[in-house]
Amino acid sequence: MAVKLKNEYCKNFVSDSELKQIEAEAEEARKTLEEGTGAGSSFTGWVRLPYDYDKEEYKRIKAAAEKIKKSCDVFIVIGIGGSYLGARAAIEFCTSPLYNTLKKDTPDIYFAGNSISPSAMAELLQICEGKDICLNVISKSGTTTEPAIAFRIFRELLIKKYGKKEANERTFVTTDKARGALKKLADAEGCETFVVPDDIGGRYSVLTAVGLLPICVAGIDSDAMLKGAFDAAEKFRKAPFEDNDAMKYASYRNLLYRDGKTTEIMACYDAGYAMMNEWWKQLYGESEGKDNKGIFPASVIFSTDLHSLGQYIQQGLRNIFETVIRFNEPNVDVKIPYDEDNADGLNFLYGKTLYEVNANAEAATILAHNDGGVPNIILEFDKKDAYNFGYAVYFFEYACGVSGYMLGVNPFDQPGVEAYKKNMYALLGKPGFEEMGIELKKRING
Ligand code: PA5
Repeated sequence: MAVKLKNEYCKNFVSDSELKQIEAEAEEARKTLEEGTGAGSSFTGWVRLPYDYDKEEYKRIKAAAEKIKKSCDVFIVIGIGGSYLGARAAIEFCTSPLYNTLKKDTPDIYFAGNSISPSAMAELLQICEGKDICLNVISKSGTTTEPAIAFRIFRELLIKKYGKKEANERTFVTTDKARGALKKLADAEGCETFVVPDDIGGRYSVLTAVGLLPICVAGIDSDAMLKGAFDAAEKFRKAPFEDNDAMKYASYRNLLYRDGKTTEIMACYDAGYAMMNEWWKQLYGESEGKDNKGIFPASVIFSTDLHSLGQYIQQGLRNIFETVIRFNEPNVDVKIPYDEDNADGLNFLYGKTLYEVNANAEAATILAHNDGGVPNIILEFDKKDAYNFGYAVYFFEYACGVSGYMLGVNPFDQPGVEAYKKNMYALLGKPGFEEMGIELKKRING
């Protein structure tokens, strides 16, 4: 069993009978998701992805990853939102947030095009100086501004360094199978392409080529990852409610939300989970935050953030609940040494490991926050590895689909993302947006 939901610190806030009462709603939402009868159902290809993924393409992804590993020192992955967060979360979860500084026989991996920060771009260009580079540009639409700008910059760099032919051989494009500017360019230049399936939206796409190519380049066991997702699909699509923690997670979230708990804080005691938190925030924020509804997804890494946000969680506005990610087994551990002088008074910790101390920090915090009026849902995973990553991804995606339908929204669209884009195009003078640009400049300048 790769995940176990523990509800003992939720019980003072949600009774067993309330959970029983919402069961029928959760089952209805699951039926809607499985039968494809709900809003956004044409974007639910991820539900069957662990069974139906393109096996031929998967072989090509693995072969491309081997080629990339041999031919570059630095692998630049260009993408934003769902075309970025999953791959980075996987690499940090399965290896380390310090992946690039580890001793390894795989290339350094940097992510670009996830902001328009000039300093981030300038630093990355500097890092690339004198290095062999390969690119993976990822954009389902092929038109998103941030990655498109980054791709233009890196493409120019590659062409200058290697000439057009070799630059094209070093460029791997993940996009729609037929549409978009990126697909056109890749076809015209003969770059190798991978597909973002039509029926899978960005934030549900980490186990497609979107995530799998960077994951394979990082040397992570992608077979184990896909097996984890498959086992989770078998479990959560079929198991009855009482034995189905994805359904229960969706149900607790909705019950707590209806009781005024409008912010969910995802908490983990391992820094390797920080990017997974970011991936989860996009998944739940974009899926549920619409129609003036939705739980606000926030995140913390403890005990680090106990010294910043801990105060608010303990005593601030009581509209929050926490979901705590726990790993039952450490990947590595460190013992605390004995000190003759004991000047720091820490000899009572001698012989204990950091995993043990961290587990005690977690237990202490859960009790304190619970006493302070914050419900805690605990999600226990076996360990931080590729299998558990795949399992967790599917668990959160499935729970998100069910939870979104219980909330009464379309969990598979993101219409609100367009508003800033239109304004930005208008302000930058994109053809077709001229009049809007004049109006917006008037508003800005008063
Ligand atoms: O989940 C989503 O659909 C979005 O976050 C997209 O992934 C993001 O906007 C990037 O879009 P694209 O892949 O088309 O460049």
